[in-house]
Amino acid sequence: MRLKLSQIWSRWRGDKPPLPEQFTKPGSGEFAEVAPYYDRLMSAVPYKSWVDYAEALLQRHNRQPRRVLDLACGTGRVGSELIRRGYQVFGADLSEPMVRYCRTQNPPLPAATMDASRPALARESLDSVVSLYDSLNYILDPPALQSCFAGVWRSLADEGIFIFDLNTALALRAGLFTQDNLRGRDPLKYSWKSHWYPDREICRIDMWFRWEGSGGPHEFEEVHYERAYSESEVKHMLAAAGFSAITAYNGYTFKPPTARSDRIFYVAEK
Ligand SMILES: C[S@@+](CC[C@H](N)C(=O)[O-])C[C@H]1O[C@@H](n2cnc3c(N)ncnc32)[C@H](O)[C@@H]1O
Repeated sequence: MRLKLSQIWSRWRGDKPPLPEQFTKPGSGEFAEVAPYYDRLMSAVPYKSWVDYAEALLQRHNRQPRRVLDLACGTGRVGSELIRRGYQVFGADLSEPMVRYCRTQNPPLPAATMDASRPALARESLDSVVSLYDSLNYILDPPALQSCFAGVWRSLADEGIFIFDLNTALALRAGLFTQDNLRGRDPLKYSWKSHWYPDREICRIDMWFRWEGSGGPHEFEEVHYERAYSESEVKHMLAAAGFSAITAYNGYTFKPPTARSDRIFYVAEK
């Protein structure tokens, strides 16, 4: 669909789109059309440093996992990097189009589709579950996040460890996702506008893309939703799922989160 200038303008005037009363189907329409362009979109993301940090957390918590699940693995960038570092990794993601691109990584990441809020994982089959890049913010319903944590706990062997990060309310409120690259030269143009709904703790992101490279032009839109969870809420849910030691870090540090943290990493030990 081709967006008219008037439509782009109405977004930028700040017209606030509605939030669905209920989100019945998780992920419907998210990470579908964008999948072929995702790695290009993320080309500036320092995945190696992210994996360095995840490994530093493992070391800090005295864990040397062998069997690792990259949960909500997307196109498999994190999982592929973990394989390169010698781990035995499997990926799982809700979006089939994203999962398809796991095969194209070097090394390829074996992956399957799975809803993280209904994890179908064999009991005690994993040493670690890793979920990076605010993937679990996409679980919008607290009971569904609780079910995710319970499923991860069950899938971990004794002394297993779960590492994930979440955007905080501060980040989602501050319009982190309102951005564009319309003045740049990249053949993938995008314009995103985010809206924060404080009563639901949900951020709606209206995303418009235009591919101007080979086979293009091609325009499409996706609407994404992320929910903010407070640190105490997350810790409470992890404890309820059975995790015995839970530590939160201000993103990419070993310091505790503060009121100014925009991303929090959680380390939950079985
Ligand atoms: C921001 S992307 C991050 C992908 C990947 N972790 C990375 O670091 O590149 C978020 C991912 O979460 C996935 N996702 C969202 N909701 C999910 C759910 N309920 N279960 C599994 N994956 C989900 C999306 O399909 C998407 O691939």
